[in-house]
Amino acid sequence: MNYIDTEVIEAHKIKIINHLNNLGIENIRKEIITGLTSKQKTISSKFFYDKTGSKLFEDITQLPEYYPTRTEKKILKTIAPKLMHNLRHADIVELGSGDCSKISLLLNSIPKENLKTINYIPVDVSQSAVNESARNLVEKFPDLSIKGLVADFINQLDLIPKTSKRMLCFLGSTLGNFTETVTNQFLKNLSSSMNSGDTFLLGVDLVKSTDILHDAYNDSQEVTAEFNKNILNVINDLINSDFNINDFEHKAFFNQGKSRIEMHLIANKDVIINTPFSTTTINLKKGENIHTENSYKFTQAQINNFAKASGLNIKEIFTDPNNWFALVLFEK
Ligand code: AVJ
Repeated sequence: MNYIDTEVIEAHKIKIINHLNNLGIENIRKEIITGLTSKQKTISSKFFYDKTGSKLFEDITQLPEYYPTRTEKKILKTIAPKLMHNLRHADIVELGSGDCSKISLLLNSIPKENLKTINYIPVDVSQSAVNESARNLVEKFPDLSIKGLVADFINQLDLIPKTSKRMLCFLGSTLGNFTETVTNQFLKNLSSSMNSGDTFLLGVDLVKSTDILHDAYNDSQEVTAEFNKNILNVINDLINSDFNINDFEHKAFFNQGKSRIEMHLIANKDVIINTPFSTTTINLKKGENIHTENSYKFTQAQINNFAKASGLNIKEIFTDPNNWFALVLFEK
């Protein structure tokens, strides 16, 4: 996430525009302070992804315990030929594109002559992720045009061009970070931005045994702990606060009733935080927690609800042999 320094990259076949500063750093700061001065302290999980956080997340995807990325990629590889062979004169829009390694699996299956007719539009809150991935992709796919957007696709969905035929992709179960209300509103907005014949490929993590879920967020190398704590460094940059990551412990567990992994940071002593953007200090008692992430795990019934909430039709659902992860293809 890069709200303060913005950079526009223009090169052959690449154009990247940063829209995040239009959201106003003041609003971002207000959102952070409100979360940190509420009874249940919270920091939105969208703040994980500064340069270090994006790198740590990439490290997480390589961990033996973290099955989602690996599983989703396997499914993508399998379905890519069928999905991509006939796509031409279209925009592929990827929401939360991250390192773009997933879209490569789909682009691999587009015939070279068709690639020339495709725009790839990665949309992510991390400028560094969009920059690096665009550079990597043009090297791999020199015929592809890339029009990256650094934006918050919840609040800035309207910035995404919609004049061409589109294949929208929202992979990695990032949808699982949203509350049910936000999910339903987001799906509705997305659907109303789509034209008849446009498709939407959604990756969602599925409910499975608690042990597997627990281990995926409590890895033995403690990379997830480092990722969780790094959010405090991001907040320090944004509100000039003085969080010390050593004052906090990582906690992640599966909340069965709510069908979600919750991540928290627990203060290991009384903590007082100063920031010039709040008139009062931010106080935590020893043992008090900051809620940093929800990662919902879904069932078939919930996938059907996505269709209902959005008004989109489910064309096909693809899963792995264990039924751990699903790619849902919707069509308008
Ligand atoms: C990127 C949101 C899919 O919820 O599994 C990984 C983020 N958090 N480990 C997830 C994450 C802790 C991840 N998503």
